[in-house]
Amino acid sequence: MVNVAVLGYGTIGSGVVEVLAKNKEIVKEHTGDEIRVTRVLDLREFPGSAIEKILTHDFNDIADDDSVDIVVEVMGGTRPAYDFVKTCLERGKSVVTSNKALVAAYGPELIRIARENRVNFMFEASVGGGIPIIRPLLRCITADDILEISGILNGTTNFILTKMYNEGSAFEPTLKEAQALGYAEADPTADIEGYDPCRKIAILTSLAYGRFVDFEEISCTGITGITSADIAFAKALGKKIKLFGSSFKQNGTVYAEVAPAMIGPEHPLYAVEDVMNAIMVTGNMLGNVMFYGAGAGSLPTASAVVSDIIVEAKHLDENIKIVMEPEKMVLGDISKATSRYFVRLPKDAEVSFPVEEELSLPDYPEYKAFLTGEMTGAEIAAVSEAAFIKLR
Ligand code: HSE
Repeated sequence: MVNVAVLGYGTIGSGVVEVLAKNKEIVKEHTGDEIRVTRVLDLREFPGSAIEKILTHDFNDIADDDSVDIVVEVMGGTRPAYDFVKTCLERGKSVVTSNKALVAAYGPELIRIARENRVNFMFEASVGGGIPIIRPLLRCITADDILEISGILNGTTNFILTKMYNEGSAFEPTLKEAQALGYAEADPTADIEGYDPCRKIAILTSLAYGRFVDFEEISCTGITGITSADIAFAKALGKKIKLFGSSFKQNGTVYAEVAPAMIGPEHPLYAVEDVMNAIMVTGNMLGNVMFYGAGAGSLPTASAVVSDIIVEAKHLDENIKIVMEPEKMVLGDISKATSRYFVRLPKDAEVSFPVEEELSLPDYPEYKAFLTGEMTGAEIAAVSEAAFIKLR
């Protein structure tokens, strides 16, 4: 019998309890042992629920309970999650988390503490919800030099951009709809300004190169600057605008950013719509591989959490190596990376960049749009009055 405690009985925590109950036999078959939730920590009461009798409001009931083998942290945020997770690891309990903020800020330290205590710290659900991407990066795509990771890593913004594209709807009401459907973070700023995918691409890049990538050093632009004019021009060009979290190698330097990208139907991420997420990884031997699925939601995210629980249950007292060295990886200055761009300018503005294609739209007579040749980020930023989006 493997005993599990769950910290937080919200969307994901209740999903974990449900997955373990509904798929009890499948989980047992994979683990070779029965997994039982014996404690749940939450400040709230849940009268009449399945966890009523195992609910506690005191973290020490779990930390001090030697019978708990694995702790699932699904509270979100870094405090008190960091202190709780650290304590559990130091007391010889393995930890599974879905908490991207925690991993992006403290990943190397918590991985080290787990190693020192011969337990495990796993976080498959922290990026892409139910999509398997952490384990593939750590265990499968290991023979390659990773040249690029590009992902649609935020369901809320993908939902908004998809609706704006398909229905011509405005930004604000579409955001409200995403919030009502439970996709957005408590503070949707983290979604629409790109802070949520920023932490996710930081985690993926850290795992791809084995060194800590500080999300605070990643250039981050969200979707609040995308207008209906940009979407109309994209449509006329046969392209879509998506929010990309990316890291890529150019001339041996690794760059990372979160920014809107304009992509055509030839791009593997073009068909990723609504709240779905997808991550494309390019290896120098492998070429492109793509991982697609539900990037949020109770049961998909819980499915990823339970997959980590199963691995940890099979390796109690044995640390499975994860390389994320604490020395910060030096990222290239994104303004020096080159790309082609979509540029929208006022009709009478001066054009001072290499043009490959020009476009006007009768619905937007005040603007003209261009697809540029290769330019650096600094060069495009210097074009006055330009709204621009990378072509990928
Ligand atoms: N708010 C996030 C999203 C949830 O919209 O993708 C999953 O991290």
